[in-house]
Amino acid sequence: MTDLNGLAVYIETFGCQMNENDSERIAGLLAAAGARLADRPEESQVTIVNTCAVRAKSEEKLFSYLGRLRSLKKKTGLVVVLAGCVAQLRRDKILDRNPDVDFILGPDNYHRLPELLERRLGQPRVLTAWSKEWREDDRRHCLRRSPVSAFVTVMEGCDNFCAYCIVPFTRGREKFRPLRAVLDEVRTLAGEGYKEIQFLGQNVNSYRDPATGAVFRDLLTAADEIEGIEWIRFITSHPKNFNDDMAEAMARSSHVCRQIHLPLQSGSSAVLERMKRGYSRESYLEKIRGLRSLMPEICLSTDIIVGFPGETESEFSETLAALRDIRYANIFSFRYSPRPGTSAAKLTDDVPFEVKRRRLMEVQQTQKAIQTGIHEGFIGRTIRVLCQGKSKKDGRVYSGRSEGYQVVNFRSETDVIGRFVQVRITSSGPYSLRGELSGIP
Ligand code: SAH
Ligand code: SF4
Ligand code: F3S
Repeated sequence: MTDLNGLAVYIETFGCQMNENDSERIAGLLAAAGARLADRPEESQVTIVNTCAVRAKSEEKLFSYLGRLRSLKKKTGLVVVLAGCVAQLRRDKILDRNPDVDFILGPDNYHRLPELLERRLGQPRVLTAWSKEWREDDRRHCLRRSPVSAFVTVMEGCDNFCAYCIVPFTRGREKFRPLRAVLDEVRTLAGEGYKEIQFLGQNVNSYRDPATGAVFRDLLTAADEIEGIEWIRFITSHPKNFNDDMAEAMARSSHVCRQIHLPLQSGSSAVLERMKRGYSRESYLEKIRGLRSLMPEICLSTDIIVGFPGETESEFSETLAALRDIRYANIFSFRYSPRPGTSAAKLTDDVPFEVKRRRLMEVQQTQKAIQTGIHEGFIGRTIRVLCQGKSKKDGRVYSGRSEGYQVVNFRSETDVIGRFVQVRITSSGPYSLRGELSGIP
């Protein structure tokens, strides 16, 4: 048995929800092995940085963070562990240029951490081997950030190789978690009082249970029956794999939220083809029509990239038009950033920075106006909200999410964290709704 003997560990997380969930699992693994979790790197003996490589900016953030740890290391002898996607991808560069990094661990190697830290600066320093199969660890130890809403990873990796994307190179090929393990975890979470779960995977729609061949739709249907879990969400669905069966399973379910994140990336079929996304503007719109005819109230969100190589002004205007047609409840938008090793990196990054910047601004302004309009439509309505936490500034202001995933702020005299409440919406802005508590069922 590993015994870390009260070793103080701090974990810093960059990147997506899967990284957040991985950090929760790492924290649990280390705590179970006797480590103590610190609140700041300054209070730790070991700092683990869980990294993201999706855009150049994410990598830059990491390297500046490492600069900060370097001076700390000089003073305190801090042990620095690099985990996650940059660790997987850039291990040689890191070994060359960052002698202050003690360990490098790719996403398939976190189970080795307790043992590595027990031996401290022992060998090997670098663990980035892939495992072909899913490795199930003991998730009872997962130390979750939220007591209300839990991430449950169901698959990892991606086989799609979209032209711009580094994820298949950092997370490897698709691996699926056994359905039984997923459902066991959800049951445990329900028993612990969690109200919401979010299934995670780079491409949840390609889920397939290794034992029975059950697909994602079956997983949703089975999770829907677990008592205590009121809301079920999932990210990310690839539009190419999202089919009528999935939409029907959502519509039939009682607990799957009427909300979906379906990354469009571009509104131009020509750009989508260059991105190797596997769908066209028309087939995407067709899927949205199908979803809305089954669930008229469904809230949609998306990801948009502007300035992909060769994107003309008229191709870009198709993205703006798509935003206006679809009226998403929320979007995440990015300037294209070439990632070495991807197929798009071989194309000339020919949209000038200034043009990318202007296009991003246009996307964001267009969306801001749409969201403002959608939110104004909520004023006067009473909606169900799952309270997630409270404001740091004012202890009586609570914050939650609607079924459509909108942020809702409201006042309450009693602590309602983890509870469903009814809130009457009284005002709104582009990014949130505000209201009055009108009932605690
Ligand atoms: N697996 C998910 C998310 C991938 S990363 C999916 O397939 O949708 C999250 C988002 O980052 C992507 O949807 C995309 O919009 C953006 N992104 C990925 N690579 C990028 C790049 N090289 N430049 C800019 N944005 C990128
Ligand atoms: Fe990246 Fe495309 Fe895979 Fe998403 S589906 S992780 S964008 S390669
Ligand atoms: Fe980033 Fe890796 Fe997630 S590259 S988006 S942390 S899968």
